[in-house]
Amino acid sequence: MAVRTVSVQLGSRSYAIKIAPSLLQTLGGECTRLKLGDRCAIITDRNAGKFFARTVFDSLVRKGFSPLLITVAAGETAKSLRTVEKCYDQLAAHRLERKSFIIALGGGVVGDLAGFVAASYLRGIPFVQLPTTLLAQVDSSVGGKTGVNLHAGKNLVGAFYQPRLVLCDLRTLETLPEREYRAGLAEVIKYGIIYDAPLFARLERDLPKILRRDETALSPVIARCCEIKAEVVSQDETERGLRAILNFGHTIGHAIENSFGYGKYLHGEAIAIGQVVEAKISEKILGLPEGETRRIESLFRQAGLPVQIKFSGAQRKKFFDAMRLDKKAKDGEVQFVLARKIGKVEFGQRVPVETIERALD
Ligand SMILES: NC(=O)c1ccc[n+]([C@@H]2O[C@H](COP(=O)([O-])OP(=O)(O)OC[C@H]3O[C@@H](n4cnc5c(N)ncnc54)[C@H](O)[C@@H]3O)[C@@H](O)[C@H]2O)c1
Ligand SMILES: [Zn+2]
Repeated sequence: MAVRTVSVQLGSRSYAIKIAPSLLQTLGGECTRLKLGDRCAIITDRNAGKFFARTVFDSLVRKGFSPLLITVAAGETAKSLRTVEKCYDQLAAHRLERKSFIIALGGGVVGDLAGFVAASYLRGIPFVQLPTTLLAQVDSSVGGKTGVNLHAGKNLVGAFYQPRLVLCDLRTLETLPEREYRAGLAEVIKYGIIYDAPLFARLERDLPKILRRDETALSPVIARCCEIKAEVVSQDETERGLRAILNFGHTIGHAIENSFGYGKYLHGEAIAIGQVVEAKISEKILGLPEGETRRIESLFRQAGLPVQIKFSGAQRKKFFDAMRLDKKAKDGEVQFVLARKIGKVEFGQRVPVETIERALD
């Protein structure tokens, strides 16, 4: 299968995202081409490491690099300053220097963690992303946001730092648990709604193949998602305006994650519900046709994602508290990204709390 390449245009920091099966094996050659130093560190987690560390390690050694393997625990808890410090200590012990580089091998957790380590160690050394979850391939590995969590909240410490290269190896998705895979699809569908009606229609048509992880069907879809995120990010790298459209479904989604506690819903599941609810709000505020909301809801359903939330009274209260605490809330109104039609959204839309309540029922 041909390798698809998406280029992220950020002046002197521009880089390529390559998408194809079996790309991990090509890493060594790619790093030679990028003229990176000999010493490097692969940061991975137990799951991704178990399946892919050997391949990545061998590919680097074959081309004369000397990699150090750093394996962190799987899951969100690895995104902590403690883990960052442990990584620094190992990098220093392995004598990584300014020309050395870091490879992030795993999902969004590893990408955010390793990216932040790369951004800060010696004030920044090059880094390469090897995303192995669908969410990481279409979302977290694109755009340069890196960081870790504090007890006070998620992603509170971080840096904008771009990788030198991203390799999306489609084969890595084979081992991904079904629920994680479907959660990633929620972000894929989002790109259709916010930016690309033909992509949305393609998803409606090809969903059965995509659910089977058919590489021929997946490859153009992942490439298009990366292209959309890259386009949005190139226009607004540090989130002053347009980049906000990537948060469609996330205002509700984050409030769901907050009120149910992290763990009940995966992020993708929370934003699937969020997108359906925000489509309903869009009908009221921007005149999104009802038929479009039905198409949106139906696509999430077919992807096996939740589209509705059942609250207890206490959860409902927590939900609206979370909503009002949202940094975008002001004077009894909450700011949303809303859809005018599939493929076209507008950010900075003020919505009264009563409208949100009605859309939730
Ligand atoms: N930087 C950004 O712009 C950005 C954007 C969105 C999300 N994020 C961050 O991404 C994180 C979520 O990423 P995620 O959903 O990829 O979660 P994750 O990295 O925790 O991966 C999900 C699970 O799958 C496992 N795994 C990874 N690849 C695998 C594979 N190929 N086969 C089998 N198991 C595999 C992981 O070990 C983990 O248990 C969050 O911390 C979120 O804040 C960042
Ligand atoms: Zn998201």
